[in-house]
Amino acid sequence: MTGTKLTSGTEWWRTAVIYQIYPRSFADANGDGMGDLAGISSRLPQLQELGIDAIWLSPFYTSPQRDAGYDVSDYCDVDPLFGTLDDFEVLQRTAHDLGIRVIVDIVPNHSSSDHGWFQAALAAGPGSAERARYTFRDGKGENGDLPPNNWESVFGGLAWTRTTDPDGTPGQWYLHLFDTSQPDFDWDSEWVREQFRAVLRFWLDRGVDGFRVDVAHGMIKAPGLPDYTPPAEGGSMGGAPATLEPGISAESPVTAPYWAQDGVHEIYRDWHKVLAAYPGDRVLAAEAWVDPLSQMAKWVRPDEMHQAFNFAYLETPWNAAKLRSVIDESIEAFGNVGAPSTWVLSNHDVVRHASRLALTGENLQGHGIGPKTVGLPDTAVGLQRARAASALMLSLPGSSYLYQGEELGLPEAVDLPDHAREDPTWFRTNGERYGRDGCRVPIPWEGASASFGFSTGAKSWLPQPAEWAGLARDQQNGVAGSTLELYKHALNLRREHSLASGTVEWIDGFGPDVVAYRNGAVTIVANTGAASVQLPAGDVLLASEDLVGRTLPGDATAWLRAVTA
Ligand code: NOJ
Repeated sequence: MTGTKLTSGTEWWRTAVIYQIYPRSFADANGDGMGDLAGISSRLPQLQELGIDAIWLSPFYTSPQRDAGYDVSDYCDVDPLFGTLDDFEVLQRTAHDLGIRVIVDIVPNHSSSDHGWFQAALAAGPGSAERARYTFRDGKGENGDLPPNNWESVFGGLAWTRTTDPDGTPGQWYLHLFDTSQPDFDWDSEWVREQFRAVLRFWLDRGVDGFRVDVAHGMIKAPGLPDYTPPAEGGSMGGAPATLEPGISAESPVTAPYWAQDGVHEIYRDWHKVLAAYPGDRVLAAEAWVDPLSQMAKWVRPDEMHQAFNFAYLETPWNAAKLRSVIDESIEAFGNVGAPSTWVLSNHDVVRHASRLALTGENLQGHGIGPKTVGLPDTAVGLQRARAASALMLSLPGSSYLYQGEELGLPEAVDLPDHAREDPTWFRTNGERYGRDGCRVPIPWEGASASFGFSTGAKSWLPQPAEWAGLARDQQNGVAGSTLELYKHALNLRREHSLASGTVEWIDGFGPDVVAYRNGAVTIVANTGAASVQLPAGDVLLASEDLVGRTLPGDATAWLRAVTA
């Protein structure tokens, strides 16, 4: 089916299912073992068949790939690894013809150190206009050989690197909240602001439907760059510590001087206007690790962004009471500013939920898992919970984000050999944190082909686990009970019953392990416990596990046609 019409002026993003494509690992058309844009174009019909509304493409811009493309050296071109601007045009046209919108990533907190702007800043020296575009400072101590403050990089180690002057003597330091190769811009610079307006317009002129904004809570730093020691329990990307210190309420979390500074909002108000000048509904989606959700909601006030990833939901364990509470909190927090809630369970930075939901260890999320991790997840339990969790998520009102491969039930790749790893986290922590390679392994399309059909050749930039043959798309397509069919069915029903624009009316009485609610004409029952529960009256529309009569097993979700009294 081609030629689906995209309607404009409908605020499509409020109810959309947005599928994240990680270009390195989706499909490789030129056989070099690295995914590319032509590969993506060739597989779009399968995404239409899945029933998604939009794709979000992680960065495919010119980049030395030291952080897998989140280190951009030209914001307005395609890296030869992935193709050309013409390949992008083809991809976008193909997607639009199939009724799929296209969101691209924008990385405004930092560039690559290879970017011409940073190279010019190094060459121009201290005090120059070029240096004022990045965050350069003199070092402390007699010879300036101590870093300007104590900040640590999200990937481990110091957040500062010292430069060397052209005559070979040690020079100023520059800030990088991430890898050394990712210098932070100074957003006090009007020049920087103007460059990014131009980048937005460059892609808007090419017809993109929106942007996912990387580190959208990080661009402004507190004046004076004061020292800061994060709480041990806090997430490395920000957010409140899991256990708040005495006297600090969730409404006034400890804010790092580099996260969630008020000044970022002015930037998004400005960007909102840039997008609004274009026809159609263009969207800004924030990657802002801000806790609690009432604070994160500031990013999606009516004149700022449109959506923010709901990381609080992603981080919620498979526990009925906690799920119910985060769903309430999300709908209230985003609803208070007139924005839809989003829901997300996986992305390219976290352990895939088909493994994460069965982890028994503590504090592993975000740090990756590998062969020597204590408490490795049970694959069968993980898959069962993931299917149940996805079925619950896709029933919720608002917009849902899917990460490529979750529709196949892919687990985290745990057995990657050390020499294959590429995540800077692995290197910067000397192998102490596995990082994110395990969720970035190229996905399997055909079980019997070399590289499982990921590539037209036999290579894959990260090795694919042999067991993935059985999870390949062609092994699941049309197979009743497969995870792929479960997703397709859920997406169909979600549309048919307008669940995404519905409401949540809780139903009590199923016991402490069950999340049950009514959304319009559908009743949803998710059982997070081990004991089975009796389903209420109503035809079963969908079940993540086989039912025995009208009994829902543990770790399973069912949707029923609600019976009205
Ligand atoms: C968040 C991105 O999702 C992650 O992959 C990247 O490493 C950091 N931002 C730095 O850009």
